[in-house]
Amino acid sequence: MNRNSTPSTGDDTGAPHALTRRRLLGTAGAAGAAGLALGAAGGAIGYAATRDEAPTTLTAVGSTEVMFHGKHQPGITTPLQARGHLIAFDLAPGAGRKEAAALMRRWSAVARRLMAGEPAEGAADGPGHDTGIALDAGPSSLTITFGFGYDFFARTGLTARRPPGLDPLPPFSSDHLDAGWSNGDLWVQIGADDALVAFHALRAIQREAASTATVRWQMNGFNRTPGATAKPMTARNLMGQVDGTGNPKPTDADFDRRIFVPGGQNAAYDWLTGGSYAVVRRIRMLLDDWEKLPVEQQERVIGRRKADGAPLSGGTETTPMDLDKVGPDGKLLIPENAHARISSPERNSGAAMLRRPFSYHDGISADGTPDAGLLFICWQADPLRGFVTVQRKLDRGDALSPFLRHEASGLFAVPGGAAAGEYVGQRLLES
Ligand code: HEM
Repeated sequence: MNRNSTPSTGDDTGAPHALTRRRLLGTAGAAGAAGLALGAAGGAIGYAATRDEAPTTLTAVGSTEVMFHGKHQPGITTPLQARGHLIAFDLAPGAGRKEAAALMRRWSAVARRLMAGEPAEGAADGPGHDTGIALDAGPSSLTITFGFGYDFFARTGLTARRPPGLDPLPPFSSDHLDAGWSNGDLWVQIGADDALVAFHALRAIQREAASTATVRWQMNGFNRTPGATAKPMTARNLMGQVDGTGNPKPTDADFDRRIFVPGGQNAAYDWLTGGSYAVVRRIRMLLDDWEKLPVEQQERVIGRRKADGAPLSGGTETTPMDLDKVGPDGKLLIPENAHARISSPERNSGAAMLRRPFSYHDGISADGTPDAGLLFICWQADPLRGFVTVQRKLDRGDALSPFLRHEASGLFAVPGGAAAGEYVGQRLLES
């Protein structure tokens, strides 16, 4: 059964939804009454069950599916997933616009199938061949998101269509960037709530790249597993802080304007309508130094309480920060150099970005310190008004900076979502 026969929810936000019983029955309708239960389990939940097995129900984690088609690509407003892989490619010598278009078509097809919980059927090794890594699992909130880097446009003869937002990021004084781990022609973000599902997608994407594009860099990350906390909560990072509180919410009146590129501006960049810019930074945390700080000092570095993320000016996690409030000693409760103060939209002419990171841990370095930190990914309609504005400020006196090292950097234009029958980037590559 083709998974795509499932009725659309009409949800174009990229937000995930669990396969409800109603949706399963709707999908199974064509299978006939006798095969209903098995049809529902075996069909709607992809290739989770083999014919001879009794139908089993996947957990909510396994059965949650995010739609591939929509106004925006998935993986931007989708809640953080437990596993992430970032991979950047460069087009192979001789590969131009035609080959890039064919690759985006193949990648989109594989992304749509995998996000629906179907096998890859990769063209790379012949029809029907799938690595089997995700056998038994459902979609598990898998998202696959594609972006184009600065050099992609020259390589495909499309320089005139390269939007100014892709101009290279300025240098920052705290940069310790490794060029080999930065940028790239093509960028793919993979997220899933199951490690095998995520790795399966990574392999499928790499296999489909075949001889068209070669891997430039690859990074692996993680977040808390859904269900690990008694109720859904803002994530914590590897410094132990509640991280993500100040993010703009999709329900905010100006959310779309800040995060997604509006249409009707310049015809040359119309292909990016509904898209966004992703800034990717591998930020190493100097955890040995950080963990030596008493908790009260850690809290003053951020301006928020460690236990619950509440601002030091009082209240709960969601209470707005009172940046002017002083304590009995007359000193600001949220210090002048606190990270949350310096990065707050009201201190940055309203600059806002959606931070959607993964933590990473790549083992212990030769000097005994953990090679761990944040794969910081932020989304915005304009990187100059988002990341660059805020990072410039942070660069000049953020109390958190001494505990961080920016080691890699990327900036990618992420096209809007593909409509049904379309592939990601088609409006750029075929017009
Ligand atoms: C490893 C590096 C970083 C860590 C550990 C970190 C941690 C935090 C924490 C704990 C908060 C307060 C809670 C929240 O609102 O989410 C915060 C807020 C914020 N951070 Fe960071 N951050 C890092 C890097 C950055 C970078 C590079 C930027 C952008 C250039 C940035 C921009 C922001 C913004 C915009 C806020 C929200 C401020 C507000 O709404 O008031 N952060 N960060």
